[in-house]
Amino acid sequence: MPGGKADSPTVENRLYHIMVAPGEISKYILLPGDPGRADKIAGTWEESRLIARHREYTTYTGKYKGKDISVTSTGIGGPSTAIAVEELLRAGGNTFIRVGTTGAIQPYIETGDLIITVASVRLEGTSKQYVVPEYPASASPEVVMALVEAAESLGARYWVGITASTDSFYVGQSRPGYKGYFPSFAKNIIEDMRIANVLNFEMESSTIFTLSNIYGARAGAVCAAIAQRSSNDFMPGKGIDEAIAVANEAVRLLHEWDEAKEKAGKKFFFPSLLK
Ligand code: URA
Repeated sequence: MPGGKADSPTVENRLYHIMVAPGEISKYILLPGDPGRADKIAGTWEESRLIARHREYTTYTGKYKGKDISVTSTGIGGPSTAIAVEELLRAGGNTFIRVGTTGAIQPYIETGDLIITVASVRLEGTSKQYVVPEYPASASPEVVMALVEAAESLGARYWVGITASTDSFYVGQSRPGYKGYFPSFAKNIIEDMRIANVLNFEMESSTIFTLSNIYGARAGAVCAAIAQRSSNDFMPGKGIDEAIAVANEAVRLLHEWDEAKEKAGKKFFFPSLLK
């Protein structure tokens, strides 16, 4: 089978893990963790074509309100997410929006609320294999603004702030492990993050943001709070349709804003460009 080189692996011109060939995707890519959610997202567009289904990576390309858009699932956590971002960049992606689920740690956030992340605490290992821990895992201002605009226009209940990304859903997010394993450091993680004004825990945004900053791509994240760690409520599925609607609409806005930038000969978006 014709392959690429060991340091840039491909199979028949397809990127080795995601099995997407350059040119098959939009620049604007939604990144859910769950492959099933990639199917669900593609089902909300007026047109969609399955590009590849391989391991945890399912990719579709299509049209949302006439604008090109893609979705690729990342799997759970930093390592598989970094592979997705690396390969999607090679395939032509440059704007990433994570659409996921999350656990809220501030008591005022309700299950089903959306959280739009401006930056993520790097409590994972993958991004540390790329760059010093002091390097910021910040979202792109344009993507954050598009998500806020979309959430407002759709009447979603949302919050904007800092997220913490972990490598562990259980002990790393202060849930007792199997047979009650609960080391003392894990017991304090929620409170330590809560008093530092962190809104939520999830497992992918800091990797997406760190890599996007390194490579000059744009990224943002919108997640539905399915867990509330103060009240201990768990509502799987709540808010996911809203998060998908907001992410789709943010892509439409980014298309519009990018066209306005191009017309005005500007590199960066600013609100009066739309006047
Ligand atoms: N995803 C997480 O990482 N944590 C939660 O509590 C819920 C979803």
